Amino acid sequence: MQLTDLYREVILDHNKHPRNFGRLDPHDGEAKGHNPLCGDRLTLTVRRDGDQLADIRFEGNGCAISMASASMMTEAVKGRSRAEIETLFQRVHALLTDQHASADNLGKLAALSGVREFPARVKCASLCWHTLNAALERGETVSTE
Ligand code: FES
Repeated sequence: MQLTDLYREVILDHNKHPRNFGRLDPHDGEAKGHNPLCGDRLTLTVRRDGDQLADIRFEGNGCAISMASASMMTEAVKGRSRAEIETLFQRVHALLTDQHASADNLGKLAALSGVREFPARVKCASLCWHTLNAALERGETVSTE
């Protein structure tokens, strides 16, 4: 099996069976993300424990890439500190935009590297990350524009 086929399977699996889907109750942070290009929306609820992201859920309606990206992100960031999450976001952003970015140690998030062949979809994959930043900081609606 080629790597690109494997990546496609990971995306399809997370779209079909999204992890951490729903609403966290109780939660202490919430933000909504909106991609005005397509109208897709997603809502994140988070619970913190000091500097750590103790738990996270997402809900929404979007394309396969946005749903899979949010699902994989929730798995990757749970239990991490703000600094670790910021580093992960930078690495995912590089993966989405830079042909030479390394996917080493990124686990399933490496599947997002296939998205860089489709620049119009980069916003689909990064929507959840921008929304997470908002949930951890201010709790408001963010737009990919
Ligand atoms: Fe709307 Fe991808 S087409 S987020």
